[in-house]
Amino acid sequence: MATAIKIEDLWVRYREEEDYAVKGLSLEIGEGEFVLLMGPSGCGKTTLCLTIMGIIPRVIKAEVKGSVRVFDLDPLNASPTEIAKYVTIVFQNPEMQLVTTSVYEEVAFPLENFGLPRDEIKRRVKEVLEVVGLSGLEDRSPASLSGGQKQALAIASVLALRPKIIILDEPTSQLDPQGTKRVTDLILKLRKEFETTILAVEHRIEWAVEYVDRILVMSGGKIVLEGDPKTVFSKEIKPEEAGFRPPQVSEIAYKLVRSGVALPTIPISLNEALNIFRGILDERAASS
Ligand SMILES: Nc1ncnc2c1ncn2[C@@H]1O[C@H](COP(=O)(O)OP(=O)(O)OP(=O)(O)O)[C@@H](O)[C@H]1O
Ligand SMILES: [Mg+2]
Repeated sequence: MATAIKIEDLWVRYREEEDYAVKGLSLEIGEGEFVLLMGPSGCGKTTLCLTIMGIIPRVIKAEVKGSVRVFDLDPLNASPTEIAKYVTIVFQNPEMQLVTTSVYEEVAFPLENFGLPRDEIKRRVKEVLEVVGLSGLEDRSPASLSGGQKQALAIASVLALRPKIIILDEPTSQLDPQGTKRVTDLILKLRKEFETTILAVEHRIEWAVEYVDRILVMSGGKIVLEGDPKTVFSKEIKPEEAGFRPPQVSEIAYKLVRSGVALPTIPISLNEALNIFRGILDERAASS
């Protein structure tokens, strides 16, 4: 597996701030990996994402120490066009990203900037609008779309560039459950169909826990816990400390363990929980 992102001893301090927002963070993400970045508000998740994109320090001024590699590129010193070939970001608030007057243009515009031939642009726009479920809305103004559709459009315009890496900074936090489902289904589809490397900042874990390769938990500018979901949730996670809730079934399991029930493992999905609980019930039935 090739390395998609490699960060060594990264320190980031915003201008006029005394404290560093990212403090000696090291991280490696392999090509094709799906990684969730979690942690309490203010722990440095967005700062990390913006630094991987080179937006810090190019646009947002900050002191940056340490090294960042995105494939063979150094985003801290590369041009935005170069960086965009490898990695793109979808922000929490899609309005920030929508800049044109029609759904078609929104997707076509960055491709025109890349100098792609017109036929290829048409083909890609059609393809990604289908993927995100916006076919037929080509002439609509982005402003007239629903929140979920706007988010889908922001993702489509990023997807059309066929980046090797997509960073999603809380892509569903503005959305209702239906919009959230559309966007999360879309992310899972990306992963499956395009084998895109995905780094997603998320507070909600349920939709991703069965698909994600690795969870990184940040606190105070550092990674404090890391591993596959099974490992991360094997020890009790307290939402008030971690800044996110573990899967509900894991929370139930923590409670059972605290009240003296021996569980073979902490489940992270409903199916897993059902199997464990069934096992316990069968054992009890057999021994009575
Ligand atoms: N433009 C900025 N100028 C100065 N300080 C900033 C700036 N942006 C963020 N910070 C500070 O840097 C720290 C990390 O912020 P960051 O936005 O990276 O956190 P986060 O983990 O993304 O939080 P959230 O979950 O609320 O989005 C915080 O203390 C924040 O106040
Ligand atoms: Mg943030």
